[in-house]
Amino acid sequence: NLARKELAWLRRGAPARTSKPRYRIEAAEALIKNVPAPRDNVELMSFATKRLGKKVIELEDATVTTPPPEARVLVDDLTWRLAPGERIGLVGVNGSGKTTLLRTLAGEYPLAAGKRIEGRTVEIGWLRQELEDLDGERRLLDAVEDVATRVEIGGKELTASQLAERLGFSAKRQRTPIRDLSGGERRRLQLTRVLMAEPNVLLLDEPTNDLDIDTLQELESLLDGWAGTLVVISHDRYLIERICDSTWALFGDGKLTNLPGGIQQYLDRRRELIAAPAAPAAPSSASPGQDAASGTASGAASSPGLSAQEDRELKKELNALERKMQKLSAKVDTLTAKLADAAMPADGNIDTALLADLDRELQGVRSEHDDCEMRWLEVAEMREEGHV
Ligand SMILES: Nc1ncnc2c1ncn2[C@@H]1O[C@H](COP(=O)(O)OP(=O)(O)OP(=O)(O)O)[C@@H](O)[C@H]1O
Ligand SMILES: [Mg+2]
Repeated sequence: NLARKELAWLRRGAPARTSKPRYRIEAAEALIKNVPAPRDNVELMSFATKRLGKKVIELEDATVTTPPPEARVLVDDLTWRLAPGERIGLVGVNGSGKTTLLRTLAGEYPLAAGKRIEGRTVEIGWLRQELEDLDGERRLLDAVEDVATRVEIGGKELTASQLAERLGFSAKRQRTPIRDLSGGERRRLQLTRVLMAEPNVLLLDEPTNDLDIDTLQELESLLDGWAGTLVVISHDRYLIERICDSTWALFGDGKLTNLPGGIQQYLDRRRELIAAPAAPAAPSSASPGQDAASGTASGAASSPGLSAQEDRELKKELNALERKMQKLSAKVDTLTAKLADAAMPADGNIDTALLADLDRELQGVRSEHDDCEMRWLEVAEMREEGHV
């Protein structure tokens, strides 16, 4: 069995694959030939269309700004039509306006210009970034049953208690008063309540920050069979690759940019923007209905708030991370080749234990590489923005 990330990588499509030698792709594809896709998109789309109609949420010539009096433009002249069953990952650096755009989609945040249209049958479920205020005296399960006692999700009917259990609350924990829950548990409760309301449009703002691996996998499998429109903001690369079909990014240039190459393309673009801030931005892949860039991409070459010493330290860390990533990449290549060989042994006898070991090792190295990459971006952004 190839692990989840490998599947996600393969399913991400052509742009991500072109850098891999053909024979490795074929070997990996042979390995996953019998692994079913996580979801049946055609069926989900047609089901979503039945539930939602053609119109979901549309923004037309929309301008979204920060609150007045500052009213800084976050997204300018955007036309964006969410389709039934569309599954979107929304990424961007802190403060780029992801939450504000989600609030705009939800209809809570007013547009500075343009309009928002909502389909008649739309039921929005919205997991906010911040904690909601709930009566601390009530027990966890009561707070879930306040929304509904049963829910149909992915073709299965679940009771409030069963859904709570799938999201990591034991029967015992379900009796706990809300005031005794940790912050993470309260956010998880919030997610349970959102799903319990049987929305057909789900807006999730950083859903995974408080989830452990088991609950995360439960959430992913719940969403696999979920026939609705999904917009999820997350820093969790794997989650987006796993549950979304398209990726959109806010780069701080007033545009919403579609990234056919997914998160990898996002990371590459961020790196380009940071490395060459004075150079003109690379042409965006697709920006429906938008005029030319308003040119707000950061042009800061120096680091205003950092001391020279601090800046040097960060530069040093960047260099170290780059060296480490190079080593890890080389290791990934070696392991991928070994894995391909192990999958197609000359004598035809596949050693599954060896495959599993290599796969596990590969996942480890990959995730270490991902961590380095995220840290690289963080540090690069600190230097760019001038504060630690
Ligand atoms: N109530 C507010 N008053 C003033 N400015 C605000 C307010 N809410 C958000 N902003 C500003 O609007 C910009 C976008 O904020 P938003 O929360 O949408 O970003 P984000 O991309 O979700 O960031 P994060 O990754 O930190 O969640 C930020 O620069 C923020 O400072
Ligand atoms: Mg946010």
